[in-house]
This record gives sequence, C-alpha cells and structure tokens, in this order.
Amino acid sequence: MAPGMFPIAVLPGDGIGVEVVAEAVRVLEGADRRFQLGLELREGLIAWAAVRAGRPRLPEETRRLVADSRAVLFGAAGLPESEGLAPRDRPERALLELRRLLDCFANLRPVRVLEPLIPASPLRAEVVRGVDFVVVRELTGGLYFGEPRGIERLPDGRERAVDTMVYSTDEIERVVRVSFDLARGRRRRLVCVDKANALETSTLWRRVVDRLAADHPDVTVEHMYVDNCAMQLLRRPRDFDVIVTENLFGDILTDEAAALTGSIGMLPSASLGAGAGLFEPIHGSAPDLAGRGVANPLGAILSAALLLRWACRREDAAAAVEAAVGAALAEGMRTADLAGLSGPALTSRQMGDAVLARL
Ligand code: IPM
Ligand code: MG
Repeated sequence: MAPGMFPIAVLPGDGIGVEVVAEAVRVLEGADRRFQLGLELREGLIAWAAVRAGRPRLPEETRRLVADSRAVLFGAAGLPESEGLAPRDRPERALLELRRLLDCFANLRPVRVLEPLIPASPLRAEVVRGVDFVVVRELTGGLYFGEPRGIERLPDGRERAVDTMVYSTDEIERVVRVSFDLARGRRRRLVCVDKANALETSTLWRRVVDRLAADHPDVTVEHMYVDNCAMQLLRRPRDFDVIVTENLFGDILTDEAAALTGSIGMLPSASLGAGAGLFEPIHGSAPDLAGRGVANPLGAILSAALLLRWACRREDAAAAVEAAVGAALAEGMRTADLAGLSGPALTSRQMGDAVLARL
C-alpha cells in the first residue's frame, strides 16, 4: 500500500451484489478522480461466490484483506442453491461473521423519500413527501448471535429448536450512544423501539435508554413497541427522525421502511464500530434478477457515499455522489424496479453511467 492511500476491501458476494457493487466501484473511482481521495480498492471473495471458487464462505485471505482495510464495501450474500443448508452453514452467515469480525455494532440505515420517486412509493404523496429518518439497528448481538442456539432431537423423537435473544448493558449502551449523537446532528428526536410488554431484553433496553436520556436533555426520547412502530411507519413516517432498535427488529422494520422510498434497491447502510466500517445496500442477492444487469445500483452507490462520509470523512465527496444520484433521478433516470417510467428502463450499467456523468 502506498503511503497516504485509503485501502478499501470490495466484496461483491452473490447474485446482484456483483453488478451493483461494480457500479458503486465505478462511482468511487469517479469520486477519487474528482476529489483526489487516494482510494485503493481491492476485491475479495465471500459467501457463495467463495464456496463456488472452492474456498470457505469467509476465506482467510478475505479476513486478511479486511483487516488491512479501512472500510469494506459489500454487495449481497446467499443464493437459492444454498437454501437447503442449516443457518450456520449458509453463505449469509459469512456476512454475519464479517459484521462480528469488524465489530461494527451500529448499523445506520437512512430512509429518505426523494421527491422524484414519490410516485414509486406505495403510499400517498402527502404521507411520504419529505420522509427523512435513520434507523440505527444493533448489528452484532441479539437473536442473530445469542447462545444457546440449535436444533436438537428429543428422546421421544420430536425436534426442538432454540434461538436466544441476549443483550448486556454495554452492548445496548454503545449503540444507543451512537443514536443520541446522530439525533443531536438532526432533529433531536429519538424513538427507541422494543417489545417491553413481552421481552426481558426490551426491559433492559428501556432502562439503559432512560439512563442515557438523562445525559441528553436536548434530545426528545420516546419508547415505542415494535408492532406499533411497524404501523406508525406507514401512518406517519414523516414524524420519525432517529429510530434505535435491536438487531432483528431493525432488520424487519428497515425492509418496511425501504418500501416507503419506492424500492428496496434504493436503501444504503453504514455499519460502524471502533475499526473499519462496513458499507452495504440493505437489499439482498435477488437471485431472480441476478446476472441480467438490470438491478438498481443506487443502494450500493449510496452506500459508497456513506463510505466516503463515515470512513473517509469526506463530506464533500459524499454529498457530491448523493447529489449526482438525486440529479439522475430528477432527470427521469430509472431502473426497472422504480415505477413511473417515461421511457425504457435503464440497465445497472446505464444507471451507473448516469450518476458518473453527473458527478
Ligand atoms: C440485511 C439482511 C441480512 C440480515 C441477511 C442477508 C442475513 O437481511 O442486511 O438486512 O438479516 O441482517
Ligand atoms: Mg434484511
């Protein structure tokens, strides 16, 4: 690595991860040319793509690559041919392991309804116009990782499956602190989503949040049950500013929130911890679209913008990429997932070109 370079690991993974990350990489290279960022992009294998190449789902060389990088750009994991496998053997597990490896516990998922995409939203314009919030999803704990877990055979022949939702105060505290900091830079409203009417972990979340709230009197804090939150996201999505919640609730609510924006293909994410951050679109590998070059690359491109903002600390470059995306959409550029087409849908490559041309 040349001195002063900013090393980034690029892990396209499976399905449409390949084609959307290719466009995000081109946009990063474009931003590098314009802003002299000194990016050094190095590609690695992960998930089913690694298995197909005869490697483990998270190969040692990829672990080393990530350890030598200051940010990771990730595409997607998982394909139908791996669906029969136990969760612990599935390619998606490589992503979960990567999140743990990087200890990037705070997953920021900004949800913004862009004016030109309002017609693509399933909700009425007056409900979604101006929606702008961030979900902070705890990413390295909870049901995804809790022990014990597994399926056992009982003496009477039945099977019994266990997952464990477990959180300790330090795990809750660190992600809630990120949320308060974020809220302070925004509209200062934090909604903490839990299921405290049924779950012990949620009761502990509430306690920690209430304790931290005392140190942040400038931020308005509200507790909301997750089922109610799922409803309010559809009824009054504009009222949200920052939402913080545990891992699985965050996974579910952000797919719902993505629909507000017109397409799950639009949503980027940034996962932050003490070390290198992980940047990935929230959509999955979309096997039905994969290999056809038609997937929406904007979620990946906007994830690259988040990388520029949070990892490179280059607000100028991040804002320029976001503005280029906004301009392309404002001028009617659409991939097939976004309704409201006046002409034929763009391919992933053409959408990448459209953003690059405006950068
Ligand atoms: C996401 C995805 C992943 C998750 C899957 C692929 C394991 O749905 O990033 O939202 O559940 O975290
Ligand atoms: Mg998900």
